[in-house]
Amino acid sequence: MNNRFLLTRRHIIQLVFEMLVGGIGTAVTSRFINFNNQLQARDNPNKKFATDGKFSLKERAAIKDLIYGAAIQYSQLLSDRELANQVKCECKMLVPEWELKWFTGKQSLRPSPGRFDFGRADWMANFAKAHGLLFRGHTLVWHEALPPWFQNTVNSQNAEQFLEEHIKTVVRHYAGKIHSWDVVNEAINPSDGRSDGLRKTPWLKFLGSDYVELAFRFAAEADPQALLVYNDFGLDYDTPENEAKRNAVLKLLERLKSKSTPIHALGMQAHLQGDKTQFNSKKLKNFLRNVAALDLKILITEMDVADKNLPVDIKVRDRIVAATYEDYLSVVLDEPAVIAVLTWGLSDRYTWLSEFQPRRDGARVRPLPLDANFKRKLAWNAIARAFDNAPHR
Ligand code: XIL
Repeated sequence: MNNRFLLTRRHIIQLVFEMLVGGIGTAVTSRFINFNNQLQARDNPNKKFATDGKFSLKERAAIKDLIYGAAIQYSQLLSDRELANQVKCECKMLVPEWELKWFTGKQSLRPSPGRFDFGRADWMANFAKAHGLLFRGHTLVWHEALPPWFQNTVNSQNAEQFLEEHIKTVVRHYAGKIHSWDVVNEAINPSDGRSDGLRKTPWLKFLGSDYVELAFRFAAEADPQALLVYNDFGLDYDTPENEAKRNAVLKLLERLKSKSTPIHALGMQAHLQGDKTQFNSKKLKNFLRNVAALDLKILITEMDVADKNLPVDIKVRDRIVAATYEDYLSVVLDEPAVIAVLTWGLSDRYTWLSEFQPRRDGARVRPLPLDANFKRKLAWNAIARAFDNAPHR
């Protein structure tokens, strides 16, 4: 009997559970069959992701001249001593999840048109320095996290002045203390219908398609030493949307390089989905190679693996999440231009996916290397194994 349809005891229990919770229609159709057909093939109960725990992720990465780090919020780092200890133990790089965006609520970087509040980001930069971590900035230009005053203040006449003032003030403030900047974030969205693939954002509306080049030039003037990165998501899978995005991002990078724009790297956010099966290592490898051929480095900047559509069984979820980390990283780390891997968070206790991609069953999501009690998971093993198996830079 084809074991894809073998109804193991676990599956029967799950099916009954889903019938009780979601009703027969829900249980029998989408999730269970979806799991059985597509995900069981991905879940290898015999795969142990064996590795020793002797060396941390930062140590394993460093052996291959790679960098491992994580995005963390100021409030979490300040209030959670265990988190701070784990960041020191596992990470070589720290990126503020919120604090270098224009606006993320109270005590933001840009509380008003004429003000910059560096308090929180400075505290994080000092934390990084005190503990020998590299510090990276996210993000100077984005269509999200804009302050409430932006809409009524910035317009076509003054947008370039606001762009230049923001970039130069912030980049100068951290000049010499920053490893890299996400200068422009998520500027490509092919479904907006433009031939250049640019996302229709306020910056595009006010400044035209050259705003991306302008941003990089302002950043380079402010800190000639910083690695300047274009950062985006949706570049990972063998789907029409991701293919279109890869092509449009490559076109943007080629255009920028053809104009000698001071851009040094592509940031691939790598927000992956544990239930997504359209993973084509050849296409991904080819994209990485095409980016590297532009004399650009590559950073994996916001990696996590969403488990919202995976079965509730933690053992199954953790195995599939770990396999997704290992499959993806084994491909990207084969590309010598890849210099860093950052996860968007370090522990399941603090992940944006709890809010942005919650599970319908209400179970805590498990997308990151450490669980909510900072215990290493199979995902940690998978990242460790990927670093161990990566070629030396
Ligand atoms: C997310 C933060 O993690 C959330 O806490 C916030 O509410 C929204 O932004 N891509 C990015 C990040 O570049 O800045 C986003 O961070 C996640 C998606």
